Amino acid sequence: MKTISSLHDPAAPALGLSPEAHQHLGRDFLWGVATSAYQIEGAVDVDGRGASIWDSFARQPGRTVNGESGAVACDHYHRWAEDVAMIADLGVDAYRFSIAWPRVQPLGLGGFNAKGLDFYERLVDGLLARGVQPHATLYHWDLPQHLQDLGGWGSRDTAFHFAHYADLIARRLGDRLASLATHNEPWCTAVLGHEQGKFAPGERDPQLAAQVSHHLLLSHGLAMTAMRASAAACPLGIVLNQVSVSAASDSAADQAGARSEYARFVRWYMDPLFLGQYPQDTGIAHYPEIRSGDMALIQQPMDFLGINYYSRTWISSAEPAVPAPKALGETDMGWEIYPDGLRELLVGLKRDYALLPPLFIMENGMANADSVSDGRINDSARIDYVRRHLEALAQAKAEGVDVRGYFYWSLMDNYEWDSGYAKRFGLVHVDYASQKRTLKDSALWYRDGIASLRALTAGRREEALHG
Ligand code: FCB
Repeated sequence: MKTISSLHDPAAPALGLSPEAHQHLGRDFLWGVATSAYQIEGAVDVDGRGASIWDSFARQPGRTVNGESGAVACDHYHRWAEDVAMIADLGVDAYRFSIAWPRVQPLGLGGFNAKGLDFYERLVDGLLARGVQPHATLYHWDLPQHLQDLGGWGSRDTAFHFAHYADLIARRLGDRLASLATHNEPWCTAVLGHEQGKFAPGERDPQLAAQVSHHLLLSHGLAMTAMRASAAACPLGIVLNQVSVSAASDSAADQAGARSEYARFVRWYMDPLFLGQYPQDTGIAHYPEIRSGDMALIQQPMDFLGINYYSRTWISSAEPAVPAPKALGETDMGWEIYPDGLRELLVGLKRDYALLPPLFIMENGMANADSVSDGRINDSARIDYVRRHLEALAQAKAEGVDVRGYFYWSLMDNYEWDSGYAKRFGLVHVDYASQKRTLKDSALWYRDGIASLRALTAGRREEALHG
């Protein structure tokens, strides 16, 4: 027989989670959605915004699919109020966005642009008015073109300009932000932007990429120092993209290959930030020039660490290579779906870094070729992807990892960099011709799941209070 208290049964299937996962994610856990400036804002030459390296890169023939750019994207710059209402209606606790540096400081140095700053002020206040926590990132890849002309991240000076910009934002918005991250995924800026030529500014120079990674880390340390000195009121940190690495076999070559891949991808950023040194066992010939005092500057205490996790890296040194099993398939990006990698990764971080601050999953999500049919978008594959990753996250928590929140990437379909608009990551579908937003099934599932987790928590609190 169903009793009243079973209505509050923590095993009820909110988000389709197992009872164990419920236990770990049900209470005091932050639920959010994420975006970034260049991918959604559009309005690239409005209200005094300066040019960014992505504007220039996307204009170069052959750099992006169909030559697509973020010039219009989701037109969020003009539709921000409607988008904030949509975020609030999803019932999430938090929204992660990035600030376009060239919008607030068009040249990246010198004068600031009041209209650009006002935009982020309106956005932050709009979120707060609707009860949504604003989590901002200072750099999600859109360097002012003028700084690129002066040498970009290859120049040490850029790190100092960044710290100046960071300090301004912290002074202006720090009292209202729920968190402020310096960088999003410095590995992508360094390696995809300067070694593989896949992202702006499109360089192919491994030595430059190593130097860029160092300047990015240095800029993080300088920015942290400046923001602490001006007593930024909000928690400060950085967001790193990370993977778990699997060796195809027990062979010495595969095992060593997996270890050095992990050192290049994860430890290259984690070790300087938390141990004050670059890993030496990377198998990389290219190391940056480091000046005295740099490593101490980089190793600033952080209030949180953001992790973006999408997939794992598979290492096989056999000829021909043994392919990854992809037992759960792959996403539209061709990325293997491997939820347990999230648990492996987080447990490994806890084991290896004694000074690890609280963690937030700042991005996780899948691209899927979603289309609207009769006003509805059935994206059960996305629901399954998220649910499995939440299970893995709950397991990591059960193993003692301090993870405080989860942000789905992305709130809505948007400009997926060199892949253009065909890759759809959103919980919300965007019809780019009309700019109409339509909630996908996954958005409804996320909204209802969060609401029922809250109801369960409230129910438990009631029971505890009234017996
Ligand atoms: C991450 C980026 C984000 C988005 C997702 C799919 O690497 O931070 O902007 O492109 O991948």
